[in-house]
Amino acid sequence: MNNSAIGIFDSGVGGTSIWREIEKLLPNENTIYLADSNNAPYGEKTSQQILDLSVKNTELLLEKGCKLIVVACNTATTNAISYLRETYAVPFIGIEPALKPAALQSKSKKVGVLATKGTLSSSLFHSTAKNHANGIRIIEQEGKGLVTLIEQGKITSDATKMLLEKYVKPMLEDGVDYLVLGCTHYPYLIPVLKEMLPEHVQIIDSGEAVARQTKAVLAENNLFTDSKSMGFHEFYTNADAAMLNHFIKDTKRSIRVEYLNF
Ligand code: DGL
Repeated sequence: MNNSAIGIFDSGVGGTSIWREIEKLLPNENTIYLADSNNAPYGEKTSQQILDLSVKNTELLLEKGCKLIVVACNTATTNAISYLRETYAVPFIGIEPALKPAALQSKSKKVGVLATKGTLSSSLFHSTAKNHANGIRIIEQEGKGLVTLIEQGKITSDATKMLLEKYVKPMLEDGVDYLVLGCTHYPYLIPVLKEMLPEHVQIIDSGEAVARQTKAVLAENNLFTDSKSMGFHEFYTNADAAMLNHFIKDTKRSIRVEYLNF
């Protein structure tokens, strides 16, 4: 079991931003990544649809023998993780918008959150936001359209820049000094965002925290690999393998990227 892979899934290519952090922190672990790009964006779907897709992805990763599953998608985590934890025996790690560190560090006491409709409307997000709302104003913004553009590789396109400006401008006018990226696709937008944000505005995402939590849960469950060599990484997409490859081709690690009908 210990040398089995860590399973990771997302609605598409975005969760590769989380895979990078996991690989960096746990270089000997093998991973299997599912990009459900054929069903992206999850953020526009109903809670039940998001749950059904999360179950489908989980069962495929379990069939492939994964020892632990990282739900590398805020939308799937906020809508499905309790069900997944109750239903399957393996440990699950989820990802949620990093409201806590932003709320603790904000000087203006105003924090912007860019996330999908599915995340912002979930009860898990509401309760997290309430917990950190003490003296802090949280300004929520749905990133409608961004996931679709990122799935098409259009990260620096005019369409992407126009949407980002439209979403970020009102938050800046409100005086936010922290912008929380509440979707695993959005870290790929950081270079574009940095060009439009004043220097004092910090961007924060949950990637590193998820990797640290993955390490802690592997330790707790005695699930670390015994392998001393670098891990092997399988990536599957039910859409365009070339597009998924585009997002990870800079890695120096051993990877295989394939189309799979799931
Ligand atoms: N990467 C997903 C997230 O973190 C994107 C959701 C979507 O497909 O809309 O929320």
